[in-house]
Amino acid sequence: MNSSVPASLVQKAAGAPKAELHIHIEGSLEPELIFRLAQRNGVKLAYESIEALRAAYAFTDLQSFLDIYYAGASVLLTEQDFYDMTAAYVERALADNVVHTEIFFDPQTHTERGVPIATVVAGIDRALADAETRGLSSKLILCFLRHLPEEDALATFEAALPLFDQYRHRLIGVGLDSSERGHPPSKFERVFAKARAKGLKLVAHAGEEGPPSYVYEALDLLKVDRVDHGVRSIEDPALVARLADTRVALTVCPLSNVKLCVFDDMTKHTLKDLLDRGVAVTVNSDDPAYFGGYVNDNYVATIEALKLDDADVYTIVRNGFEASFVTPAERAALIAKLDAYWHRDHGEHGGGVGVSAS
Ligand code: ADE
Ligand code: ZN
Repeated sequence: MNSSVPASLVQKAAGAPKAELHIHIEGSLEPELIFRLAQRNGVKLAYESIEALRAAYAFTDLQSFLDIYYAGASVLLTEQDFYDMTAAYVERALADNVVHTEIFFDPQTHTERGVPIATVVAGIDRALADAETRGLSSKLILCFLRHLPEEDALATFEAALPLFDQYRHRLIGVGLDSSERGHPPSKFERVFAKARAKGLKLVAHAGEEGPPSYVYEALDLLKVDRVDHGVRSIEDPALVARLADTRVALTVCPLSNVKLCVFDDMTKHTLKDLLDRGVAVTVNSDDPAYFGGYVNDNYVATIEALKLDDADVYTIVRNGFEASFVTPAERAALIAKLDAYWHRDHGEHGGGVGVSAS
């Protein structure tokens, strides 16, 4: 551990009730579960063993990761598979004291293999409904794959229309993910306009590998409520000022950014600069099974490398609740829970922190 960061702050952050706003559920598939589902479903994998698969997790950029991520998702066929994947993530989230999570899923990855969107959503929703009884609230965000034509996204949106009604309280928004370079947000203006007209929340990955102009497009053309990643916004001071002024949050994923070589190492990460300039940054795990950790691992790595202090960490955790798609009353309750935790006496060694899930 970096000697200038007190162990108690790391423990305090780990024990804090928190939100996760950027997690691809398919990116929570651990190698062990990939192999178990492959065996259950008779799917042949390109890797001989769990170890061989894990050894392939040495990424040079976003695309090198996505190739393996889509291969891993190929084991998901039945409603029970989606339930099991989500239930495994729920255990990790609860262990990290996540009390609210907003989960992305990629329907096109599954429909192209003949799995109906209804099957995908039913399995994920069932696990999330179970999680509610254990103190984890959640929303679901349907993401379009940006490397595919907008016509495919429009067809996916039409196919999902009944589900937005059936799962009104869970399935609350749409997002945009997959290969960023060469696929600007402007490519998806029409489908986002339709989603907006339906009253859905809007998010998009932008400024992960792509330039600041993609963040402007996400804001101005797609009219997103949050920007996923957005870390390259730092290259454009006017954009940083606009993000700060409008409080459009960035769902930052520090371990992901280092694993995908957006930054050379964690000490080079710009999260603290963005925070200091008033941008509403949040900390999230992205694809935790692939990037070396769940949300608390992201907090620990960031606190240590960027020497965050108590006020920084409080602000980041609070930003997660401020930026979440809950009702004002739910938001107030979540922030009250954080405040009750944060301002109590944590003692010299973190006070043996931890929150009950209730
Ligand atoms: N899909 C899953 N993880 C992603 C990421 N980090 N960027 C874009 N698309 C993704
Ligand atoms: Zn992502």
